[in-house]
Amino acid sequence: MKNIYITRIIPQVTFDMLQVKGYSIDVYAKDQVPTQAEIIEALQRKPYDAVVTLLTDKIDAKVFDAAPTVKLYANYAIGYDNIDVAEAKKRGILVTNTPGNYSYCIAEHTMALMLGLTTRMVEADDFVRAGKYQGWSPMNFVGTDLEKKTLGLIGAGKIGERVAHHSTRGFDMKVIYYDVARNEKIEKEYGAQYFSNVEDILKLADIVSLHVPLLDSTHHLINEARLKLMKPTAYLINTSRGPVIDENALVSALKNGTIRGAGLDVFEFEPKLAEGLAQLPNVILTPHIASARESARNEMAKIVADNVISFLETGGVKNGVN
Ligand code: GLV
Repeated sequence: MKNIYITRIIPQVTFDMLQVKGYSIDVYAKDQVPTQAEIIEALQRKPYDAVVTLLTDKIDAKVFDAAPTVKLYANYAIGYDNIDVAEAKKRGILVTNTPGNYSYCIAEHTMALMLGLTTRMVEADDFVRAGKYQGWSPMNFVGTDLEKKTLGLIGAGKIGERVAHHSTRGFDMKVIYYDVARNEKIEKEYGAQYFSNVEDILKLADIVSLHVPLLDSTHHLINEARLKLMKPTAYLINTSRGPVIDENALVSALKNGTIRGAGLDVFEFEPKLAEGLAQLPNVILTPHIASARESARNEMAKIVADNVISFLETGGVKNGVN
């Protein structure tokens, strides 16, 4: 009998697929993020073969030491910066992620943040709900156009590509981008212009949108000095990983008018926010929900189960990252 531990309740499809195989499944029962100590304690209860983890679980040498029988950590996320993949590799432990066809969800959320900021929709909604609307005024909540503005993508993988699609096809925007590798598709299909450094993107874009994984090289990619390169009228959108931005530097930039606004779905010290961030009127903050659609969550659940089954039945996985 194969034993699987799942660190949080995820969509039923995972459980259905694993149960059909006759595996024994245990799941963390509380509806909260387990601490690393709780994960370790749970993994010591049985000789587990595989663990399904979430992006909020810190999986490193301490966990590997505590659970020597576990040879697969199947992360329920596209990102896997919560797992020490290099250490896992050294120990012959596999790590997988869930790169399905749901990049469009994150791209849609990115567009929603852009539109929310430029139309000032959240501020205006607060105003109406607070009973402050006294009648139409020509000066009320004057926003900014998206139409024909320049979008600067930092990271042009599947999500960035989709954002380029919506921005050019929907709003006639011009797209400029930086990535470690060129993306010919967005150049050909959306006329995107490549720049070989982040600085040029920051200087030229009206909206900067981040779509990079969290790596040592992308930690604080957006810092105080780089924020200063942006136009005072520009907006910054982050649906990637929080630590890509130095969040304290961002709060200062938003307070000082270095940039006009920011739309954030992720935070540097999630779920905590940098001091002062939540009090700013020129930000939209969502709780890491860019992929929170039923279709995406179910697809992720299916991919994670496929990886576990494939590993336990054949020793191989489709979405290995190390
Ligand atoms: C969500 O942030 C993911 O990485 O899937």
